[in-house]
Amino acid sequence: MKNIVLGVTGSIAAYKAADIASRLVKKGFGVHVVMTPAAAEFITPLTLQTVSGNPVHLEMFRTAEKWEVEHISLAQRADLILVAPASADIIGMVAAGLAGNLLTTTIMATRAPVVFAPAMNTGMYENRVFQHWMSFLKSMGYLFIEPEEGPLACGTSGKGRLPDPEQIVAFVEQILSANQDLKDRKVLVTAGPTREHIDPVRFITNHSSGKMGFALARRAKNRGAQVTLVSGPTTIKPPDGVRVIAVETAQEMFEVVKDLFTDMDIVIKAAAVADYRPKVKESQKIKKSCSDLVLELERTPDILGYLGEHKEKQLLVGFAAETEKVLDHAREKLLRKNLDLIVANDLTMEGAGFAAETNIAVIINKKGSVRELPLMTKDKLADMILDEVVQIIKQRQEAK
Ligand code: CTP
Repeated sequence: MKNIVLGVTGSIAAYKAADIASRLVKKGFGVHVVMTPAAAEFITPLTLQTVSGNPVHLEMFRTAEKWEVEHISLAQRADLILVAPASADIIGMVAAGLAGNLLTTTIMATRAPVVFAPAMNTGMYENRVFQHWMSFLKSMGYLFIEPEEGPLACGTSGKGRLPDPEQIVAFVEQILSANQDLKDRKVLVTAGPTREHIDPVRFITNHSSGKMGFALARRAKNRGAQVTLVSGPTTIKPPDGVRVIAVETAQEMFEVVKDLFTDMDIVIKAAAVADYRPKVKESQKIKKSCSDLVLELERTPDILGYLGEHKEKQLLVGFAAETEKVLDHAREKLLRKNLDLIVANDLTMEGAGFAAETNIAVIINKKGSVRELPLMTKDKLADMILDEVVQIIKQRQEAK
């Protein structure tokens, strides 16, 4: 049986927690309610105890009858923590790293996915401080169910209503039923282009949209991985639950990736890193003159090459964007950069490459197997690449 810790906080929507708990119990989940003291002003512990069929946890320093140290046992027992309704207060506290009540300590101690379903007045929801903390938590791997628009208890109308319990339960089920074959693996994905500055207003870049890397990060997260996404400038929304580190230049990406590398299990380098940068970055805008201008370029660090040289346990996946002799170039890169897997695409094919929603790729592994894939969405291709990664992990475990 999967266990859900249902956190209930001080919001008028707290009465809906009873319906959520009851639906989760009917679906066969073990439900363990943790209330903040403010929540108990809105709904009684007895109601939630009755519908969940388990003791309700309220105060941190209550003498436990059969629980060991309560927050640790709850944190470990949880397959998922759902905070519904989540007040602005709980989100601010978790974001600030405060752990003053049983719910915040449980959230801090768990390794399970944590889902917040915020419910509050529109003004509070749209408040910039609240939005800032919410984005921060999303970037740290916490998941959010967006509130709905409609009439609110405070008499106004707008965004801030807790969605229907049915919808909340469906969200939880989707997370728990996803294929978890990358559970707890630490995955680093790089995405997007880099920008190499010429002067304060100009730079060299490429057409990469970041879509392939973002799809990989999203799918790896769904499959249970702890994902860090290091991305060059893009306009796409980062996936929820993924830690995002924004970088600009190849050098910045190199520094960040190098620091994170030792701790990673899997590194997927989907970024289109500039191979060259201007040798000098002018501190003032370059003024035009009558003559031509020659820019001298120097090499950027080959990030993937560095990782290939220094890898220990890490599984390393590279990309090769080519315009000719795709298989030959890809094989050569796989060997030269000491990769486990390379994903090659022919940029001249329709539906492949940078800005498209789709891609046509060939996946080649270290042992020489070649998998030619048809046109597919980048999400689907991300799953195929991750399938290959899982396969290699299995083979390594069997070989031990
Ligand atoms: N890459 C990298 N650092 C660079 C350049 C590329 O980590 N400075 C990575 C990319 O993220 C990609 C792979 O290397 O995973 C292939 O990139 P590509 O530019 O196609 O390969 P190069 O080795 O630079 O070869 P060439 O320029 O000859 O195509």
